[in-house]
Order: sequence, then C-alpha cells, then structure tokens
Amino acid sequence: MASPLVVRELSKDFGALRAVDGVSLEIQDGQVHSLIGPNGAGKTTVFNCVSGFLRPAGGQVLLDGLDVTGWPAHRLVAAGLARTFQITKVFGDLTVFENVALGARSRLGRNLQMWRDARNVADAQAGAEEILDMLGLAEHAGANADHLAHGDKRILEIAIALALRPRLLMLDEPTAGMSPGETAHIGDLIRRIAKHTSVLLVEHDMEMVLGISDEITVMTQGRVIASGTPDAVSRDPHVQDAYLGEVDVMNL
Ligand SMILES: Nc1ncnc2c1ncn2[C@@H]1O[C@H](COP(=O)(O)OP(=O)(O)OP(=O)(O)O)[C@@H](O)[C@H]1O
Ligand SMILES: [Mg+2]
Repeated sequence: MASPLVVRELSKDFGALRAVDGVSLEIQDGQVHSLIGPNGAGKTTVFNCVSGFLRPAGGQVLLDGLDVTGWPAHRLVAAGLARTFQITKVFGDLTVFENVALGARSRLGRNLQMWRDARNVADAQAGAEEILDMLGLAEHAGANADHLAHGDKRILEIAIALALRPRLLMLDEPTAGMSPGETAHIGDLIRRIAKHTSVLLVEHDMEMVLGISDEITVMTQGRVIASGTPDAVSRDPHVQDAYLGEVDVMNL
C-alpha cells in the first residue's frame, strides 16, 4: 500500500524569502509524524502547500500514491486529506453535533440529491455520533459550538476534520493556548486517532511531541535538519543547536 503522504523536495518563496527549501518527508500508515522547528521555520507553509492553500514553487506531493501537487484545497479534501488550522475555525452558531454532521455530509460533495437521500443523512449522523464518542465530546453534542471551552473547541475542530473520513489528518498546533492537562488529553486523542488515520502534526510542546510521535521531522529556516524517531532526533546535535535557548530537548 502506498504511503498516506510523500513530500519530495518541496519549496515555496515569499518574495525574496525562501520559506520552504527542499523539504522531503514521508508518513507511514497508522503513524503520528510530527513536524517541529522554531518559529518561522516554515512548518505552516509546508502545511499550506501540502493542503492546497498555497501553490508550491517546486517539488511533489503524493497522497496515497497519487500526485496531487498544486491541487486546490477542496479537491484534496475529496481525495482524503483533512486539516485543522493554527487558529480555530468552527461554526459558532451551530451545535457541536451539527458541526460534525455537516463535515460528514460534506463528504457527499455538492450533489444535493445525495444530501436529500435519507440513508446518506442517517449515515452522516451515525458517523458524527461515533466521532463525538471517540473524542469525548458526546456530552456536549447539543451545545452551541461557541459555548465550548477553548480546549473543547479545538477538539471539535479535529472532529469536523475526521468526519471527512480522511486518509491523512493534518493538525497545526492543536494544543495552542491549552493547559498542561488539556495538552495531555489531546495527545491521548491523537494516539487514538492514529490507529485508523495517519496524522501529520505541527506542535511546539516538546513533551507531547516526544511522547506521542512515531517519527519527527525537524525544520529550521525552511530546511529539514533531522528526521527519525523521537529518541534519535532528541539526541541529534543539530537539533540541540537549533533549539538552544528555546527548548531544552535534552532534559525531556
Ligand atoms: N503569506 C506570507 N507572506 C510572506 N511571508 C510569509 C507568509 N507566510 C509565512 N511567511 C514567512 O515565511 C516564514 C515561514 O513561516 P511559517 O508560518 O511557515 O513558519 P512556522 O514554522 O509555521 O512558524 P510558527 O511556529 O511561528 O507558526 C516566516 O519567515 C514567515 O514570516
Ligand atoms: Mg506555524
């Protein structure tokens, strides 16, 4: 079976700045693969190029063996790639359940006839319930999404992405602004998700990254400086140099 995601020699410029410079990575089935690096390293730009929000200047993106380089975001979603954003995006006026059911129904695309089909609606609702159960949001199903605590809102965002039943889930800083307890909880959820959906994670919390990742790719200034298991990466002298003064990787 092809890897969920292969990125080869990806590059992206913003004017004179080469924000992403020849980045390659490969995600294995059922794995959590983290992309880490200091602020401005180019992580979100890689995400945006992979998920169709930016057009790469060069390189290749393969989703499940299919060359999807330069595809727009909506086509990538249909092909099995779902992502969340560094800033939370949910429909605040809808309930938690409606948000997820809408995600599940959007898998049906723009075919309104399919949306009217009772079986499809029932299927979307059952799928939404299952996902809310798995992520521990079932008790809030009827609540207005705007009324959720920040941490639960981020989990809802993950639930909406999962409702698309993606081949690959991409999470950009899912623990931003969370307490240590909430962060640990998100880490558990990500491990649970990875049993059936591979995850590409951008995350600054090193304890969580080292604790839940199967593989880590480290970027600085647009380039990959190391990749491998958490153990190998945290011992890598280049990585320790890059993080000196930021995070003491050695003490984790
Ligand atoms: N739309 C844009 N236009 C111009 N420059 C940009 C744009 N987006 C990002 N950059 C620049 O590209 C570089 C990489 O930014 P990027 O957001 O990918 O970093 P990051 O690794 O996600 O950082 P952070 O950890 O702070 O989220 C930075 O120097 C940033 O200022
Ligand atoms: Mg970023």
